[in-house]
Amino acid sequence: MKKINIGLIGFGNIGSGVVKILRDKKALLSEKTGLDINIRKICDQDITSKRSVSVDKSLLTRNPKDIIEDPQIDIMVELIGGINPAREFIAQALKRGKNIVTANKALLATHGQELFLEANGRGKNIYFEASVGAGIPIIKSLREGLVANKFNSILGILNGTSNYILSSMSKEKRTFSEALKEAKNKGFAEKDPTLDIEGMDSAHKLILLTYLSFGRLVNIEDVFIEGISRISLADVNYAKELGFEIKLLAIAQREGEDLEVRVHPTLIPEDHLLASVDSVFNAIYVEGDLAGDLLFYGPGAGQLSAASAVVSDIVDLTKDIKAGLFRPMMNIVQDKSVKRLRRIDESSSRYYIRFTALDKPGVLARISGVLAKFGISIASVTQKEKSKSQLVPIVMLIYEAREKDLRRALNMINRLEAIKEEPIAIRMEEV
Ligand code: HSE
Repeated sequence: MKKINIGLIGFGNIGSGVVKILRDKKALLSEKTGLDINIRKICDQDITSKRSVSVDKSLLTRNPKDIIEDPQIDIMVELIGGINPAREFIAQALKRGKNIVTANKALLATHGQELFLEANGRGKNIYFEASVGAGIPIIKSLREGLVANKFNSILGILNGTSNYILSSMSKEKRTFSEALKEAKNKGFAEKDPTLDIEGMDSAHKLILLTYLSFGRLVNIEDVFIEGISRISLADVNYAKELGFEIKLLAIAQREGEDLEVRVHPTLIPEDHLLASVDSVFNAIYVEGDLAGDLLFYGPGAGQLSAASAVVSDIVDLTKDIKAGLFRPMMNIVQDKSVKRLRRIDESSSRYYIRFTALDKPGVLARISGVLAKFGISIASVTQKEKSKSQLVPIVMLIYEAREKDLRRALNMINRLEAIKEEPIAIRMEEV
């Protein structure tokens, strides 16, 4: 039986999961592939701490060159995360003729172009199923299962930590900071949780999904990104009273000849499938012209779920290596009906808005006067009961308005004497 050698860089949580699966499922995998998938080396800066899986000491090294420069290694699996040194390790391994499996969405979203070009030029592949939605096979589905589809939109709940926080606020009535603390304790969050809660992790994943579905590797600067740190329990509760849940959505959406790529908190109707995606679960709602509306759903983080995706990439590559062929995974074809990216200023949406205002005559008239000046039409208004501070929340839903017009109107309203806090505006999605 042909032996395929794997070198693993990064023996952390997911790395240990990969080792466990390749060991526990060895017989099954060789039956399915006709190959012996063998871990030849594991590299990590820390080779002494106890892991959830034990390995022979002779497999361990601190020196990445033991993998990158070993001609017997066919596939390098990179699971250290972050940009550097992962970028350098992958570039060097490609130059030495290795195929790559990685879960590194931040790296591919920001430096994918150079790495994919390098791989393609050398007849090698970079597979990255675990980078989006952990074990949910969304990448394989987009590149294979849905290959004949033209996509209208992709809407994803792509960050488990943010979704956990928003669900906990909605269901358990926790405040934002209480819920964030819980998420950290449960170990879902990135090392730096601002990547999760400020929307960057979702944006990285969205860039990869947009690449696969619209054939464009957009720059991170071209993605509008707004996180959930300004979402308060009050907004979650008011939205709920109005029949909506707030979710951090990552959206790639065709608007005529334009494509919008954005990440932001969004009110979605409580009866939409995405509204019931709770806790650390991820979901990707795909609208294809042939397959129709599809929902991919599952745990978006977790050791074995992410490792399951890494192993599926390894198996895909081993099949090609066995057949001695190169099937470029990234045979990306640009969707020619998309002519440009639409800037957020030009995008339109319905909005939920909350003002904190003094409770006195004429305030509502002034607010609606400014909105009217910008052609913004109010769909509903609720003024909540008076509080001791004489400040009241005024919650409005508005009909579709251009972002640019809304921002100008809110700036003007914010300068009114009766307005005591910066207004909160959250987009609503007509899904
Ligand atoms: N920190 C990520 C999340 C998990 O919370 O979804 C890995 O992508």
